[in-house]
Amino acid sequence: MYICLCKAVSDKAIKQSIADGACSMRDLKARLGVGSQCGKCVCQASAILHNELVKQPRDANNLAKPAA
Ligand code: FES
Repeated sequence: MYICLCKAVSDKAIKQSIADGACSMRDLKARLGVGSQCGKCVCQASAILHNELVKQPRDANNLAKPAA
């Protein structure tokens, strides 16, 4: 299903971009152009982003370490 009609970006393309490392709307905009024209897709793309990020396992090595 198309999420961004202006840039013809589907939900699958957004999910794939997130799987490839996109972790913010700024990333999705840079990679796919989502939200770069009329902006009507931002809310739905943001919801997909959130749902995909909460599914991803957290890498303990990337967590901030307390200052020694
Ligand atoms: Fe995505 Fe217009 S629908 S920028």
